[in-house]
Amino acid sequence: MNKKKLVFSGVQPTGNLHLGNYLGALKNFVSLQKEMECIYCVVDLHAITVFQDPNHLHNNVLETTASFLATGLDPNKSIIFNQSSVSGHTELAWILNCVSRIGWLNRMTQFKDKAGSDKEKASVGLYIYPNLMAADILLYKATHVPVGADQKQHLELSRDIAQKFNKDFNCKDFFPLPEPLIPKNISRVMSLRDGTKKMSKSEESDYSRINLKDNADEINKKIKKAKSDSDSIPEEKQLLENKPEALNLLTIYSELTNSSLDNVISEMAGKEYSFLKTKLTEVIINELSPVGKEIQKLLKDKSYLKNILKKGTEKANIIAEENLKNIREKIGLI
Ligand code: TYM
Repeated sequence: MNKKKLVFSGVQPTGNLHLGNYLGALKNFVSLQKEMECIYCVVDLHAITVFQDPNHLHNNVLETTASFLATGLDPNKSIIFNQSSVSGHTELAWILNCVSRIGWLNRMTQFKDKAGSDKEKASVGLYIYPNLMAADILLYKATHVPVGADQKQHLELSRDIAQKFNKDFNCKDFFPLPEPLIPKNISRVMSLRDGTKKMSKSEESDYSRINLKDNADEINKKIKKAKSDSDSIPEEKQLLENKPEALNLLTIYSELTNSSLDNVISEMAGKEYSFLKTKLTEVIINELSPVGKEIQKLLKDKSYLKNILKKGTEKANIIAEENLKNIREKIGLI
């Protein structure tokens, strides 16, 4: 059995990365690279399950790479590459399409959300997207996968697929069952306009999210406009149950100041939300301004970014090819 710990995760290059990606995933990516071997992938093939303008896609792959580096990923510690440059992802995805079950895919809530009311018009790729995600992870026999809570169901599917492969081909423990690493305190950052929806790149209003590239002025405006509550900040967490926007702002503040939500609430109880917003704006600017500036700087040197991806691809390919050789053998392919 492969007992070596290995981290894999991916981010879609579909536009500006935001505070949700940062707190739900990227921050964790950075801290994990200190302890384990890590592979981080710009998942361009996932992005095209929904139509992408080719010029935008090209730039977004580089911008996502720049965001990885700007938040602290180190190409000397972690493997950083783009999915389409390692062809093993699609080969294994095909094999796993034959292991995964239609009934399993039919339960995926993200497909239902993304496909909307007219599922007949969604791409086939969007439907089988979770199988490609399983392939991403299993291609490297990854053991740990840092993600936000929205990816939990896909991770469970990856485990089911791994388990079925191991059973079907009589190779117990061949694929490790990947464990999700989901941040405990803030697994889902919510939209600034509607606290029942997750912060997302695809929500129409840019006021719903804080982008990593936003400048201080934009951050200030967005937090000022963010929905909160007309009552003052309560004394207990329980009183925030039906106030998702207020809870979201307090949770983001607690995460960025490394203090517990209980502490933040007791510190701020009785104050107006404008008080929280001033402090929150300050901590977000402190945390993200250097990141945004670094992204802009990195984007000025596209060949540097392409070179990082090229080197990462070479390293990823070596692991992928070795594993694929064994996978083909298990199945009986010549
Ligand atoms: P993607 O590109 O939508 O998001 C990238 C990462 O950010 C997390 N995230 C959030 N976390 C907290 N609050 C939010 N509002 C929020 N929005 C996004 C996501 O959970 C994710 O960790 N299918 C994946 C990409 C993928 C992948 C993989 C991930 C493809 N293959 C293999 C892990 C392993 C996705 O669409 O993430």
